[in-house]
Amino acid sequence: MVKKNACVFISGTGTNLKALIKSSREYNFPININCIVSSTKKADGLNFAKIYKIPYYILNLNNQLNFQSVLQKLKGNNVSLICLAGYMKILKKNFLNKFNGKIINIHPSLLPKHKGLDAYKKVLESKEKITGCTVHYVNEKLDSGKKILQKKVFISSNDNEKTLKARVQQAEYRAYAEAVIKLFK
Ligand code: GRF
Repeated sequence: MVKKNACVFISGTGTNLKALIKSSREYNFPININCIVSSTKKADGLNFAKIYKIPYYILNLNNQLNFQSVLQKLKGNNVSLICLAGYMKILKKNFLNKFNGKIINIHPSLLPKHKGLDAYKKVLESKEKITGCTVHYVNEKLDSGKKILQKKVFISSNDNEKTLKARVQQAEYRAYAEAVIKLFK
C-alpha cells in the first residue's frame, strides 16, 4: 500500500499522537506520519517525536516568519492530512485554506454537545448517561466541522473527570485510527 504523508499537531501530552504513530507503523494503515507540529516546545508529546525519530516543528501563529517556514516544511513533506490531537490553538482561514478539507480533529464529547474546553466537566454536569468522542473536519468555528466518526462511552454514576477521561481516551485512540482508515477508503 502506498501511504499518504500526514502531520500531527499537538500542544500537550500527545497520547493520541502516540496511538496514531503506532497505527501508522502497521503495513496496511493508510498514512505515514512524517512530521509533527507543536504549538510549544514544552509539549510532553514531543518526546514521541524523539522516540519514534519523526521530525518536529514549533509553530508560532503570531510570528509570520515562523508561520511561513512551517508552512513550507508541511508542503515539503507533501502532507495530505493534518490530524489535530490536543492542539490548543485556533487555526485561522489563511492556514485552513492551504489544506482545504485535509485537517481533522478529535474532541472528547459527542459533538455537537459540549464543544470547547472542559468537555469532561460539562459532560458530568449535564447528568447524561452516555458520552464519547468525535473525529471531525476542522473549519473556522470551534469543534463545528463535519463529523467523520463518533464512539460512545457509558458514564457511570461514580465517574469523575479523571476516570471518565481515562475511558474516553481509550475510545479516542480507536476512533482516530478508524476515522483515518475511513477517509482513505
Ligand atoms: C484529547 O483527549 C482530545 O480529545 C483533546 O485533547 C486531548 C489530547 O490528549 N482534543 P493527548 O495530548 O492526545 O493525550
